[in-house]
Amino acid sequence: MDLPSRQALEAFWMPFTANRQFKASPRLLARAEGMYYWSADGRRMLDAAAGLWCVNAGHNRREITEAVAQQLATLDYAPTFQMGHPLAFELANRLIEVTPGDLNRVFFVNSGSEAVDTALKIALAYHRVRDEASRQRLIGREKAYHGVGFGGTSVGGIVNNRKFFGPLLPGVDHLRHTLDHERNAFSRGLPEWGAHLADDLERLIALHDASTIAAVIVEPVQGSAGVILPPKGYLQRLREICDRHGILLIFDEVITGFGRLGASFAAQYFDVTPDIITAAKGLTNGAVPMGAVFVRQRIYDAFMQGPENAIELFHGYTYSAHPVACAAARAALDIYQRDGLLTRAASLEKEWEQAVHSLRDAPHVIDIRNIGLIGAIELQPRPNAPTARAYEAFTRCFERGVLVRVTGDTIALSPPLIIEREQIDEIIATLGEVLRTLE
Ligand SMILES: Cc1ncc(COP(=O)(O)O)c(C=O)c1O
Repeated sequence: MDLPSRQALEAFWMPFTANRQFKASPRLLARAEGMYYWSADGRRMLDAAAGLWCVNAGHNRREITEAVAQQLATLDYAPTFQMGHPLAFELANRLIEVTPGDLNRVFFVNSGSEAVDTALKIALAYHRVRDEASRQRLIGREKAYHGVGFGGTSVGGIVNNRKFFGPLLPGVDHLRHTLDHERNAFSRGLPEWGAHLADDLERLIALHDASTIAAVIVEPVQGSAGVILPPKGYLQRLREICDRHGILLIFDEVITGFGRLGASFAAQYFDVTPDIITAAKGLTNGAVPMGAVFVRQRIYDAFMQGPENAIELFHGYTYSAHPVACAAARAALDIYQRDGLLTRAASLEKEWEQAVHSLRDAPHVIDIRNIGLIGAIELQPRPNAPTARAYEAFTRCFERGVLVRVTGDTIALSPPLIIEREQIDEIIATLGEVLRTLE
């Protein structure tokens, strides 16, 4: 494949990218299959990141490609405002087979960011339709990532994602994050210490009063800030406090949904049922943009009051339940269920944990975290150059044929759920080698 000139790379303003650095030395992916990408210069790369946490069943699954092609040739587009198409209803019914509890109503969107903003709007509107309109505050958490909409940015807790964009939504507050190196470094699986950090919600309730709080949103496992795990019992405690105070609990499962932890959703893994779940990414195996918001039936029912000809929720997207996305999602779900991928991470979790923690004594490593098929190797930041060491680890892994993701000074691993033992070994061997080359 002919590589583009530097000039030809200028027009595309790349997201979350150091554009000038990248364009001076681009990394271009040209095709993919199963566990692998091939770079534009023809090198095979083992994908240890499932693209961007989304290609759970591995790349270029024939069933998804065919379903998409057939759908495009049959019904390329159909609105879902005041009309519908059968596949949208079928997909919703299929999805609620794998959602926890009575989260059996589905609102379709096109991305994780849209799912989050939709969930926050549903939470606010829910209280209003129940005559509790004073519940307008939203509670997020430090170090959270909930996408890039104004709602998600507001409840998010990563400073660079927030500081450029003004005051954001009013009435938002944040729980403390749960990362504690001193007490929990190198925990295998969930850290023992820190369930009481959930009591921070009681502090915010004491400050604002529960009657002003609509919802709390958390990622059950924080991904983008470097894989931060909930201490044992933390999510249960958050659930109890929300219940006690009539506050909705939203789990942002954009990365944990569809098998990442060895259950369909983190809610089942932790045995904590939230009121609303946001999902995207693995929903279509990354093949077509799509997201979804799952709500408990009582939330949906609260809106289904008043005259039947009244629109109940003034919200939606041109591409909500796009037929092509629905076809991709149904085909992805077929694969996940047929091949047992929603639970496969559970059978790999122990050997994955063992493998990731074998890097404990590698140079620069200050913490290792793992859960399901997620791993994080945190490096000591270089003095006066935070993130530089991990970024170098990323580029060197790329040169050696392994695609990892870095965030801050953490290397995050989240391979497709079809990974085999030898591929786990290859990822760990390459990382070990790369860490030994780093200054
Ligand atoms: C937890 C979480 N929420 C929301 C998002 C945003 O999703 P998207 O990039 O599809 O808008 C992400 C993306 O990584 C995520 O990890």
